[in-house]
Formats: sequence, C-alpha cells, structure tokens
Amino acid sequence: MEAEELRNRGLRACLKADSVVLEIGFGRAEAPIEMARAFPDRVFLGVEVSRKRVHRAGRRVARAGIQNLRLIHATAEYLLERVLPDDCVSECWINFPDPWPKKRHHRRRLIRPDVVGQLARVLEPEALLHVSTDHPDYAEWIAEVMATAFDFVSLHDGRWASTRPARPETAYEAEFLAEGRTIAYFDYRRKKAAPLPGTPPEAAR
Ligand SMILES: C[S@@+](CC[C@H](N)C(=O)[O-])C[C@H]1O[C@@H](n2cnc3c(N)ncnc32)[C@H](O)[C@@H]1O
Repeated sequence: MEAEELRNRGLRACLKADSVVLEIGFGRAEAPIEMARAFPDRVFLGVEVSRKRVHRAGRRVARAGIQNLRLIHATAEYLLERVLPDDCVSECWINFPDPWPKKRHHRRRLIRPDVVGQLARVLEPEALLHVSTDHPDYAEWIAEVMATAFDFVSLHDGRWASTRPARPETAYEAEFLAEGRTIAYFDYRRKKAAPLPGTPPEAAR
C-alpha cells in the first residue's frame, strides 16, 4: 500500500481500525508477520523505505493469507508527520534502526527529537514504544534522546535492558546474536497527557 492511499482515505477506512500496532523499518518482516498471526484481533501496520523489501514482504503476507497486516512503502518520517492521526498507535516497534555510525551522518538517525515528538503524538496514552540496537554508540544516543522525551517513561531501572521483550526474533537480531554482539533493548510507556488545571480527574486522559 502506498502512503498516499492511507493519507487520502484515512486509517479507519483503509485498515478498518482505530488503532494499530506499528513496526518501523520491518526489513524482511518476519516479526510483524509472526505477530499478526499470533494476534488476529489486532491490526498491524508496517512501514519500510525499501520498495524491494515492501514488495517481497507483501508477497509473503499474501501467500500466508494474513489479513491483519498492511505494509506501507514510505519513510517513517513521512508516515508519522503527514499520514497518521493523533493517538492511533497502541504499540510501536523500531527494531534495529540503521545506526549511521559516522558522525556526519548522525542527523539521519531515526531516533531523534523531531521523530520522537511525532511518535508521542501518534501513540495513544499508555501505548508502548520499543527500540533495539546492537550499536553501542547508537544505544548511548538513544538513551540521551529519550531522556529528554518527557512524554515517555522507561520501563527499565537502568537505561536499557539486555533481554528481548515479547516479540519474535528479527533477521538482523539473529545475525547480531550469532556474532556475539550485545543488544540494548529500550522499552517505554507513553505517559498520559497532563490534565489541564481545573480538569476533574475522570475527564483527564
Ligand atoms: C538494520 S535494518 C533492520 C530490519 C529489521 N527491523 C530487522 O530487525 O531485521 C533497518 C531497516 O529500516 C529501514 N529504514 C531505514 N530508514 C527508514 C526510514 N526512515 N523509514 C522506514 N524504514 C527505514 C531499512 O530499509 C531497513 O530495512
């Protein structure tokens, strides 16, 4: 599915859902495919910038007869800024975003304040955000960016966990683990919006 279609027709009309589980940069899509199979009552949306990967994964989804997973060819930035409405994502997975290790490329990193701000907008109150990386410098960077993202609260006492949250292993993860790399798993909850002064507690989201 092209992002334009979702933008023009709206999430509800395209996906027949008010709320979705979003996976950003799904690569070979094994994680969203397996999760869509395991949770037939939830609607999954994957966004991936590589057209080839979207087409390949789309063929796999069609062959498997999976109805509750839609794949979009777009950048995550475009989807977040221009397509998705407020409060429409109940959980978001960003598994191994490209680390862009060279300093001059750091501004291309997906976890950056403007993107995190958009994530806060599209995630429902109390929705979950999961990010993972094998790259030590990117892990430090993510921890720093998220430390100033006041809409999110970490689910870990330390800055990240070393065990995978409940989701299938991804292709990149399998490779990194086989190489003996350590992985940083970040898990956050979207805070409820702060009530306006004078709002009765039951009216605050
Ligand atoms: C390192 S791979 C990880 C793939 C998969 N999540 C996994 O763990 O196996 C990063 C993926 O993110 C995609 N990607 C990179 N930048 C993106 C962006 N701005 N929006 C959407 N996808 C992006 C890449 O095409 C690639 O498939």
